[in-house]
Amino acid sequence: MSPDESVDTAPDGEKVLVIIPTFNERENLPRILDRLRAAVPTAGVLVVDDGSPDGTGDIADGRAAADPMISVLHRTEKNGLGPAYFAGFGWGLAHGYDVLIEMDADGSHAPEQLPRLLGALDHADLVIGSRYVRGGSVVNWPVRRLVLSRGANLYSRLALGVGVKDITAGYRAYRAEVIRTIPLNEVASHGYVFQVDLAWRTILGGFRVVEVPITFTEREIGVSKMSGNIVREALVKITFWGLRHRWHQVTGLFTGRRETVKS
Ligand code: GDD
Ligand code: MN
Repeated sequence: MSPDESVDTAPDGEKVLVIIPTFNERENLPRILDRLRAAVPTAGVLVVDDGSPDGTGDIADGRAAADPMISVLHRTEKNGLGPAYFAGFGWGLAHGYDVLIEMDADGSHAPEQLPRLLGALDHADLVIGSRYVRGGSVVNWPVRRLVLSRGANLYSRLALGVGVKDITAGYRAYRAEVIRTIPLNEVASHGYVFQVDLAWRTILGGFRVVEVPITFTEREIGVSKMSGNIVREALVKITFWGLRHRWHQVTGLFTGRRETVKS
């Protein structure tokens, strides 16, 4: 990354909300909040905590009490990353934000790179912070995790026929218009596959999707919430969407009807 990237900022006057989902991130949360508030002081921050047993929610409350730019949404149970973000998006829309950012709490997504994502919104409706475009990278991931991520992206590209290189990425900037067109209460994806789900809906909706390079650095503290169930859900859903997409391509040749997303 070049040190002068902070010249890229959000398009003028737009209200930006950074949504940070947390489950057991008590040591990571204060660090990411400090970095984020320093890197992009004008952005609002919403922590979405799923009742973390380690007290992350209390730490978030403490920060919110001391800083008017920080808010907290408490959810009673761990219900997956997708529903946590959907709740955050709903909050952001209700509070009039123009740009909704997804960012992990564990330091994998550098707040210092956020201005680059925001800058690209000049010519995009969804900006994906991408590990797999030129200039992007992954630091400290075990080989098996890299293989899984690369495999998931390759499979998604082939199944869905899209050109996005990092469609599973979790560092993103959405224009509120995009999220407003998606019926979030009907999105059935719970695990990390919701990232693919939303990108796919964004593409089918005719919005502009742009990838900008980021450096993804594996967390140093705490553990990943990735699980076998999350991988299985992704495989089943992407396969289903891919087959449905191909089916629509074939039938569309005869009926001329355009594909939409239902489940
Ligand atoms: N509220 C809430 N509820 N937060 C959650 C949940 C949940 O059920 N599951 C995970 N999180 C939070 C974590 O606390 C962390 O802040 C963030 O979501 C990412 O979780 P990790 O467990 O650290 O994810 P990862 O590093 O394995 O996966 C990353 O890469 C994936 C594949 O590219 C993330 O960036 C994913 O979004 C991405 O899909
Ligand atoms: Mn992580």
